[in-house]
Amino acid sequence: MSGLLAGKRLLVTGVITDASIAFSVAKLAQENGAQVVLTGYGRLSLVQRIAKRLPEPAPVIEMDVTDPEHLAGLADRVREHVDGLDGLVHSIGFAPQTCLGGGFLDASWEDVSTALHVSTYSYKSLAVAALPLMSPGGSVVGLTFDATQAWPVYDWMGVAKAGLESASRYLALHLGRQGIRSNLVAAGPLRTMAAKSIPGFEQFEEAWAERAPLGWDLTDQEPAARACLALLSDWFPATTGEIVHVDGGYHAVGA
Ligand SMILES: NC(=O)c1ccc[n+]([C@@H]2O[C@H](COP(=O)([O-])OP(=O)(O)OC[C@H]3O[C@@H](n4cnc5c(N)ncnc54)[C@H](O)[C@@H]3O)[C@@H](O)[C@H]2O)c1
Repeated sequence: MSGLLAGKRLLVTGVITDASIAFSVAKLAQENGAQVVLTGYGRLSLVQRIAKRLPEPAPVIEMDVTDPEHLAGLADRVREHVDGLDGLVHSIGFAPQTCLGGGFLDASWEDVSTALHVSTYSYKSLAVAALPLMSPGGSVVGLTFDATQAWPVYDWMGVAKAGLESASRYLALHLGRQGIRSNLVAAGPLRTMAAKSIPGFEQFEEAWAERAPLGWDLTDQEPAARACLALLSDWFPATTGEIVHVDGGYHAVGA
């Protein structure tokens, strides 16, 4: 086996279509020598169908990150396919419609709590569920959308991402002694199912087209996936609690 991730065993969450960032991560990881196990949420048969489009068939385990039974059973389910994990990819986000598109002042706590449960708390839940399979050198990687500023239509999802960014730093703190890293990739806007559910998402598209110094392709998940692979690899052995921007340089320049 050769490649950046030769011999690595990865658990990749968040595939729902072949436009999912997680799909690109799984594909590139296999192409670079990794063995991949997927988790799917809800429409499992759809995820299984999409999984068949990967270079190698990948098993799919059911995982709703808000379901304590799914979390408790995760390690055993993964062990049916691999004897341990070197990396975990959290590529999960959801917020009810009331939390997005300008509804910041009106969204109920019930809806906001759903957004935070699925998009923020789950980063910790998933890592803890996978922990029995991980050993020193292991890597947890998640996806954020730069939460250092308030965006016009992102609303409570922005708050959830700010929480995720903090949760990643705390995970880095609490898992560091076990030699396990936690890092995030802050991707620019990409046309995935999650993105399409944000009313006014095109505002991001226009902003990136105008401002990103390197330009930005809204349909190319590969740059974000490549950064995930790098963070999963042995090439960032002393990096944890970090956020790598893969946004064409947008975050670095003023309007
Ligand atoms: N698309 C973008 O513009 C963009 C930019 C930066 C960061 N991100 C982040 O990337 C990650 C992946 O999103 P994507 O853009 O690939 O969209 P996507 O719709 O392809 O993936 C989102 C995934 O979240 C999963 N999910 C939702 N609720 C879940 C639950 N309760 N349990 C388990 N899984 C659940 C969905 O099944 C889906 O697979 C998300 O964290 C998203 O916020 C996306």
